[in-house]
Amino acid sequence: MPRSAARLNGLGTTIFTEMTALAVRTGAINLGQGFPDTDGPPPVIEAAVAALRAGENQYAPLPGVPALREAIFEHQRQWYGLEPEEVLITFGATEAIASAVMGLCDPGDEVVVFEPSYDSYTACVAFAGATPRFVTLRPPGFELDPEALRAAVEAGAGRVRAVLVNTPHNPTGRVLRRSELQAIADVCIEHDLVCITDEVYEHLVFEGEHVPPATLPGMAERTLTISSVGKSFSVTGWKIGWCSGPADLVAAARTVKQFLTFAGGTPLQHAAAAALRLPRAELHSLRDDLRAKRDQLCEGLAAAGLSPIVPAGTYFINADVRTDAAQWCATLPERCGIVAIPTSVFYDDKDAAPTLVRFAFCKRPEVIAEAARRLAALG
Ligand SMILES: Cc1ncc(COP(=O)(O)O)c(C=O)c1O
Repeated sequence: MPRSAARLNGLGTTIFTEMTALAVRTGAINLGQGFPDTDGPPPVIEAAVAALRAGENQYAPLPGVPALREAIFEHQRQWYGLEPEEVLITFGATEAIASAVMGLCDPGDEVVVFEPSYDSYTACVAFAGATPRFVTLRPPGFELDPEALRAAVEAGAGRVRAVLVNTPHNPTGRVLRRSELQAIADVCIEHDLVCITDEVYEHLVFEGEHVPPATLPGMAERTLTISSVGKSFSVTGWKIGWCSGPADLVAAARTVKQFLTFAGGTPLQHAAAAALRLPRAELHSLRDDLRAKRDQLCEGLAAAGLSPIVPAGTYFINADVRTDAAQWCATLPERCGIVAIPTSVFYDDKDAAPTLVRFAFCKRPEVIAEAARRLAALG
């Protein structure tokens, strides 16, 4: 394998594909990768079918189809009082992150990444020729230490260009508090940094409140806000995402995006517009359904003698297995027919959470019940 590709594999990005393949091969219950085993809301699926039949099957305009762009402007205004100058539709939030980091960072720049982190962040920083500067969130609370953040930026001696924020946060399930986000805002403003914020779980908050960093004073003009339909509407395979914010930041992402994939997913962009226009009650019911699944799996993990850290948002629970989590996960499919991910794969510092395992709970109640039964039988 060429050296550069091998370097990306070294980041641990292949574990999800490997674990999902293992689950398929062994028939294990896949609590590894975060995707629901139920379909999205019927009106959203029907909107996709209608768009396909209406001939919406050619390239979309580079910035995205007008109906979806409008729906996003409206969503940001109605949910958060935000008035972004521009919106760009991307191939999932993942392409928005890649485009933003590559469009905004030069080789030699540094990007603050809170670890544990979604695996594409460090890969995207590497694509840009930049370097991650990690700030570690430690279990069990995974709180942000403002002093550690400040020290990281200062250690960068002017090389830090951006801070990559994720709230609600994968893999910890934390919803960052306003005070933590204010600490990020203070540092961004003081050091003139761009804030790239990944909010794909914005509608999956079970306790507390989702605060978009762009809503904090002085932040709208330096924040690129990223989200997508995958998690909020249980359509992770659609890969319709977006970024919004100041025109110059969106333009930087657009410049890269046009050469990555140009523009596509036209019928799904129309359906994503329909999704964003669903009544709030529909989003709340999806969230409440997921909260019940969280509680069910937390109970199952506790009954199995594992100690779950109850998440305030997202699809994920971390539990302490009190032994080497990587080894525990490696043999879990054969021991009890379950696939789960050692939380350490999301850390650069492999010693930060060596005994934690991440379980996805976005599964049907009967699947969670069976998983809990198998875990309890482990003894
Ligand atoms: C934090 C975070 N950001 C982005 C993504 C991917 O979003 P999308 O499927 O829209 O590319 C995920 C998926 O797991 C995620 O956990």
